[in-house]
Amino acid sequence: MKKQFPIEKFKNLQTPFYYYDTDILKETLDTIAAEANKYSYYIHYAVKANANPRILSIISQAGFGADCVSGGEILAALEAGFPAGKIVFAGVGKADWEIELGLDKDISCFNVESIPELEVINQIADAKGKVARVAIRINPEVDAHTHSHITTGTKEDKFGINFDQIDKVINTLDSISSVKLTGIHFHIGSQITEMEPFAALFIKAIEIERYLTQRRFFLENINFGGGLGIDYKYPNTNPIPDFKAWFEIFHKHFPTRPGRKIHFEPGRSVVGQCGSLISKVLYVKEGSFKKFAVLDAGFTDLIRPAFYGAYHQIENLSSSEMPDMYDVVGPVCESSDSFARAVRINKVHRGDYFALRSAGAYGEIMAMQYNCRSLPRSYFSDLI
Ligand code: LLP
Repeated sequence: MKKQFPIEKFKNLQTPFYYYDTDILKETLDTIAAEANKYSYYIHYAVKANANPRILSIISQAGFGADCVSGGEILAALEAGFPAGKIVFAGVGKADWEIELGLDKDISCFNVESIPELEVINQIADAKGKVARVAIRINPEVDAHTHSHITTGTKEDKFGINFDQIDKVINTLDSISSVKLTGIHFHIGSQITEMEPFAALFIKAIEIERYLTQRRFFLENINFGGGLGIDYKYPNTNPIPDFKAWFEIFHKHFPTRPGRKIHFEPGRSVVGQCGSLISKVLYVKEGSFKKFAVLDAGFTDLIRPAFYGAYHQIENLSSSEMPDMYDVVGPVCESSDSFARAVRINKVHRGDYFALRSAGAYGEIMAMQYNCRSLPRSYFSDLI
């Protein structure tokens, strides 16, 4: 499905900016709903991937819940219309005010990442005369085979409670009364493109659930987190990730039982392919042995290539001339402000429009103002 960019309309807009194709977003949401409904799975969109208010409101209108990792995200989700009863709250460092906010708004669940956090949630809930619903985030020690910066489920990582600590968790739960254990939570990492790490995850989940059931804990909620990857190389061919395969593998191997709800927290796979960073070429600079296309967008607008060495497909929207080889760089005063090295792009001229594709997730939300640059704006295909 080759999407055309409305380049004539771009000419009235100040670059760089994020351009969101709402058709792709809606098709993705429809696909998720259709596939998840087959098994009555509960979907909480991971707000961290993109908290643009319009994106959030489209996702909330589609009926999904929200996965938040800060008080700010809880407020953004509520503002966008996500019901508190569909909000889950994770994060290794929940501040007291954020726990209070979650309790005051009556969110559905705190995904707890340590025993001290469990104790603090209990104290705060107790002071309010409330009972907090919690899930224990367990570190399943499954390697997601993805970039080390976005792996979360191994012993090396700060996230979750290791299973060998579970008896301590049980003792703590037995000694406190303002917290109710309703489930377990996992998240093994992000941009996972093979199903095998997920298979390892549900094998662990079955084991952990069995152990907790033997100790009288009936788990109402099993949350498998997010992590489904997207096709950064071929965004036109594969605009919608394989949700069918993702849910199928869980359904096949993780038994559904009456009274037990299975949850997922996809972020990247929901919004990644609907967004592109649109930028204009400021200069074509001929070095002694290479050419640089210098854009008006930098890592301040899209940090993924500089931070994770991530690949984003780069298209010259203004040229159909024979491709040449370029390093595509930004204007920020750091050598790491580079989007790609030695890539073939249709011959570049000053003023050409470039699209950095698959930038809907962890793009706009990670933008910053280093060098006193402005934050990028956003435009939508149906409103432009
Ligand atoms: N749930 C939890 C607890 C998470 O920590 C994350 C992502 C998600 C769900 C959503 O994962 P997704 O479906 O998006 O893979 N900035 C990085 C990605 C960081 C992901 C952090 N956690 C990047 O640009 O690749």
